[in-house]
Amino acid sequence: MSDESEAIGVIGVGWVGLVTAACFAETGRDVVAMDIDESKIEALRRGEVTMHEPGLEQLIERNAERLTFTTDMGEALARARLLFCCVDTPPTYSGDADLSRVKAVVGRLGDDGGHALVMKSTVPAGTGAAIRREQRSLAYVSCPEFLKEGSAVEDFLHPDRVVIGADAGDVWAADLVEELYRPLGGELVRTDVASAEMIKLASNAFLATKISFINEIANVSEEVGADVTEVARGMGLDRRIGPSFLRAGLGFGGSCFPKDTTALKQLAGNTGYHFQLLTSVIEVNELQKRRVLKKLEKHLGPLAGKRIALLGLAFKPDTDDMREASSLVLSARLQGEGAIVTAYDPVAEKRARELLPSVEMAASVEEALAGADAAILVTEWPQFGELDWAALAKRMATPLIVDGRNFLDPAALRDAGFTYEGIGRPA
Ligand code: UGA
Repeated sequence: MSDESEAIGVIGVGWVGLVTAACFAETGRDVVAMDIDESKIEALRRGEVTMHEPGLEQLIERNAERLTFTTDMGEALARARLLFCCVDTPPTYSGDADLSRVKAVVGRLGDDGGHALVMKSTVPAGTGAAIRREQRSLAYVSCPEFLKEGSAVEDFLHPDRVVIGADAGDVWAADLVEELYRPLGGELVRTDVASAEMIKLASNAFLATKISFINEIANVSEEVGADVTEVARGMGLDRRIGPSFLRAGLGFGGSCFPKDTTALKQLAGNTGYHFQLLTSVIEVNELQKRRVLKKLEKHLGPLAGKRIALLGLAFKPDTDDMREASSLVLSARLQGEGAIVTAYDPVAEKRARELLPSVEMAASVEEALAGADAAILVTEWPQFGELDWAALAKRMATPLIVDGRNFLDPAALRDAGFTYEGIGRPA
């Protein structure tokens, strides 16, 4: 049993770590959140939250008394037995996950017994076993996170399932983790470490596969005159298939699907197994972003000198995250063809400016579309559904729109004077 006054340690206060710390505090627990980045810790002590995640700032403010932010690992070790590892595992050049930050955490924990590392970071299957071999007195629990950016707080507090993997000998730590999560509801999946690690990688790879699958169906639908949104609706009503993750578009981006599908493919490859299906999933996703150029050229001819406006830059709405965003590839390809690219994003502009220095950032949709030869809806921000499209059409040199997320009503856009192209919808 845990002592309610015992704190929970969270190592790494990036996106996953901060959400984890704030949500455990919300459940009434004291949390010691540790990071080696002093400026980040200083900012959090001042109550400054730099990332855009709905509800997070309020949660931190409301639970300030229960949250300690520190750069001192000793403080976390002194106050907590469970240490949730939330550092990032970015891809290396080879596509394998970079575990250097995880290793640094393990190194700093030492080998004093009585503590458990609870792995939230996405790591290759086999990582837990390797850490356990090195640090024999450190218990190890795999507890992968399934949070979505933009609804992470909600996902954490109302999980579909919580996966807790531990091997014989570390059951005490898994029991403590289970106690923390039980009040949140959701199915508890107790399993071994290797299976827990695979559940995480397989879940993301499966969702990515669903997206690439529907994108290929969209591409074929264009050839045969079908509408992929209708196809997805009809498919999704089959309970074995389900309606989610069947939205065709410009492909998946973000910090997880692209990285995790490649990492799983690499992990399989390292064991000598060629994961053919995932290789295709990744390739379909790469090509999907580039297909938009053909749609523009169909109407505009060569793109050199044409003004193209990107509506939305973040990899999905409700986040300012630009990692692996389709907008990065799209703007590079458009500029490669000689087009002038303008863009508007209600939240991601600051981050985007650093990554896309040659893209003209507009302060509004109106400004982005002024004089444009075409618009591409890249991110389905809700406000783009409420624009006065008839007025916007008049501001453009050519009222052409490629709806990269099948977000807008084609008939309404056509009535507003636009030539409308969706993804997998009849032109
Ligand atoms: C994803 C998973 O959904 C989470 O369960 C997981 O915890 C997380 O990765 C992670 O491993 O940390 P996230 O990257 O926040 O979460 O984003 P999603 O909402 O899953 O969307 C990913 C991408 O797929 C976006 O670019 C989105 O536009 C695209 N997508 C999603 C589609 O193109 N079609 C769809 O039908 C759904």
